[in-house]
Amino acid sequence: MDVHVIPGVIQESDADAIVVNLFEDVQHPGGATGAVDAALNGAIDELIASGDFTGQVGQVAVLYPRGAIPARRVILVGLGPRAEFYADPAEGVRRAAASAIQKARDLETKRVVSILHGAGAGGLSVEDAARAVVEGSLLGLYEYQGQKTEAHSKEPPQVLELVIFGEEDVPAAQQGVERGCVIAQSVALTRDLVNLPPNICTPAYLAQTAAEVAAEVGLDVRVLDREQMEALNMGALLAVAQGSDAPPKFIILEHNADRSDELDTLVLVGKGITFDTGGYSLKGHEGMATMKTDMAGAAVVIGALRAIGMLDLPLHVVGLTPASDNMISGRAYRPQEVVTASNGATIEIKSTDAEGRMLLADALVYARRFEPTAVVDIATLTGACVVALGKGIAAGLFSTDDALRDALLGASKATAEKLWPLPLFPEYKKRLESQTADLRNSADRMDGVGTSATFLKQFVDYPAWAHVDMAGMAYGIKGIPYIPEKSSTGFGVRLFVELARRWKR
Ligand code: BES
Ligand code: MN
Ligand code: ZN
Repeated sequence: MDVHVIPGVIQESDADAIVVNLFEDVQHPGGATGAVDAALNGAIDELIASGDFTGQVGQVAVLYPRGAIPARRVILVGLGPRAEFYADPAEGVRRAAASAIQKARDLETKRVVSILHGAGAGGLSVEDAARAVVEGSLLGLYEYQGQKTEAHSKEPPQVLELVIFGEEDVPAAQQGVERGCVIAQSVALTRDLVNLPPNICTPAYLAQTAAEVAAEVGLDVRVLDREQMEALNMGALLAVAQGSDAPPKFIILEHNADRSDELDTLVLVGKGITFDTGGYSLKGHEGMATMKTDMAGAAVVIGALRAIGMLDLPLHVVGLTPASDNMISGRAYRPQEVVTASNGATIEIKSTDAEGRMLLADALVYARRFEPTAVVDIATLTGACVVALGKGIAAGLFSTDDALRDALLGASKATAEKLWPLPLFPEYKKRLESQTADLRNSADRMDGVGTSATFLKQFVDYPAWAHVDMAGMAYGIKGIPYIPEKSSTGFGVRLFVELARRWKR
């Protein structure tokens, strides 16, 4: 879908559908909605008076102007109660825009013209409003076609135009549109990678995709193969990988590599388990059923680096994605084995299903060579975190640095990709003690949340590190219009891009 900004007034548009909005409990709409209502001789007033439309969040009505204005349809979308909208206007706009454009798609419209929800009285700047409308619209239209041999869905609208009343606001709106498009396309790339089946989305496929993204955007890319990982003594990662016939890959993407002296360095690390059977600590069939999504962290890092590169943010950003299957075979690692990570630490395998932290351990050690200002990893790491915070509610956030934690929470607030801080109490370390090695890779069942992050912390030797456990957030979230229900969410891409965008030295 192409998105344009046009100056003008919406009631003069001859689009297939124009989109206006309404707060809950408004009897007589003002602003652009009021202007359309006046042109329609009070049709919206009447709709409200009838009680058929209250302006609830996500409520959508379609009106037919019968020649009163040039447009063929008017789509009216509810913004909910004013106070709730103002609590997070950007999120309100993303949701409203998604609901409206989905209606426009259902009606098979080709050209949609929308007002800039949330600008002016809504409290958002023109740029932020435009970005939110574009993000909501594009993310709301996302569909994963999979390998179906026949297309099963309706064609989305070809054009979305945003009308701006003041000519002087056009450049700001255009800026917002461009940013929104880059971000939404990058989220779509991440969603696609996570949605792909595990026989297609292998470590090699992730590496290939990263190389294509690098060529498209102008990033540096390197992919380490098994031999190179052996040379680096990545014994933790390789222990997981040795059970699979699919060769592991360690993918390195870099934005502004040539300016690393003058710019801060942010290293993003993503868990790339392309399928998690649990290994010999085998998962049950229900637990295993969604484990193609266990590379969501890696997909987030690839998607975020695409957007960061395209937006050309003034920061040196490195993306590290260790990628492997976790399988069973005659070569697979077993409980009670002891392996040595690339920092020399020995790890007793208590559970082969605690494989993500093994990959991340060697990646966090590798991150050090970039002399990072900050390192943030993201991973579908523990079921315990899902139990702690709820499925589809928030990701867990652990950090050794208050400023980095606050920066992530700020980005989280701005993107509505929720994070909730969890502790790194020193007591957790004891729970990881091993009889036979420096530490064991998992603790007892009741100690699930803090110990996983504490395990990772053993491989960190730079001051600012944060860990995002997104196990509950990768797939199948209900009730958010711009996130399809039976799909990957893309959670984390907007968060990381916003973190980089707001970076302050
Ligand atoms: N990939 C899983 C975590 C997960 C669970 C992600 C549910 C998404 C939804 C991870 O590798 C895992 O198996 N974790 C174990 C850790 C345990 C063995 C210490 C878990 O959570 O049970
Ligand atoms: Mn596992
Ligand atoms: Zn896993």
